[in-house]
Amino acid sequence: NDPRQFVTGLPKAELHLHIEGSLEPELMFALAERNKVAIPFGSVEEIRAAYSFTRLQDFLDIYYAGADVLRTEEDFRDLATAYFDRAAADGVRHAEIFFDPQTHTDRGIPFQVVADGLLAGMAKAEARHGLTSQLILCFLRHLDEDAAFDTLKAADPWLDRIAGVGLDSSEVGHPPSKFARIFETARGMGLKAVAHAGEEGPPEYVWEALDLLHIDRLDHGNRALEDDRLTTRLVETGMTLTVCPLSNLKLCVIDDIAAHPVDRMLKAGLQATINSDDPAYFGGYVVDNYLAVAQARGLTREDMVTLARNSFTGSFLSEAEIARHL
Ligand code: ADE
Ligand code: ZN
Repeated sequence: NDPRQFVTGLPKAELHLHIEGSLEPELMFALAERNKVAIPFGSVEEIRAAYSFTRLQDFLDIYYAGADVLRTEEDFRDLATAYFDRAAADGVRHAEIFFDPQTHTDRGIPFQVVADGLLAGMAKAEARHGLTSQLILCFLRHLDEDAAFDTLKAADPWLDRIAGVGLDSSEVGHPPSKFARIFETARGMGLKAVAHAGEEGPPEYVWEALDLLHIDRLDHGNRALEDDRLTTRLVETGMTLTVCPLSNLKLCVIDDIAAHPVDRMLKAGLQATINSDDPAYFGGYVVDNYLAVAQARGLTREDMVTLARNSFTGSFLSEAEIARHL
């Protein structure tokens, strides 16, 4: 009858997870030593103490700085392995993980190092835990579209192992319209499309993600609730929203977890899912995210079953694979 046991026991997919955001302070410290990289922190405790944010950009600055300890294929494999081990313990059976190649290629780390390291971790997770996974290549929206095209070109030899493209980083001032052409190109190559929208940005950005990027899934989408016509559109098209409660709290998208809209989303008929976003920075993995909103918003067990089910129906798995999980 323990809620944690109940949620852990539900088979779940995780659909909104930045692998660089799963870099725990302990591993950051260990990799800094292994690679002889100087970091501006003297201890794991000092790193954790720096994780206090008032908006998305505060977090992004520290998240990109932290990623500097990732240098070798082995580092990316170890990063992925640590996440998958933790996710498997939470009852995650399938994960579609984001990675930000530009964060690494802009520091001189070849795309190959990032991709092969992550793929090695993914293969290990499947062998070890039966946990399947897919990669989603995210373009950094604070950079320009030419840089996104360069990244897609660098990814070319790996595109058979990449499920889709996404859009992340600083949202306000960088609307989806800025990336219409790269998304059209990527979709033309058979890649799925997702985008962060309506986290800090206005409902208009969600409209653009739908109408200009033709997304298959919406990351966050909280602010879509401000627009009834938009909400209706998302309901009627069965769009999956990858919602991240503890992230919303830590980045001050909401003032209090008690104000989280996930139950309003479910009542409106939206296909909401629960995800951890950047668990090393926001204080919890997927089960912690379910429990935080379950307690704060009085979710029923039926609601939690619905959320877990939505995570598979909203995944990029085939109908047959989804049926195996449900
Ligand atoms: N990159 C990593 N986490 C992110 C988030 N929550 N929003 C935008 N970009 C991100
Ligand atoms: Zn995110």
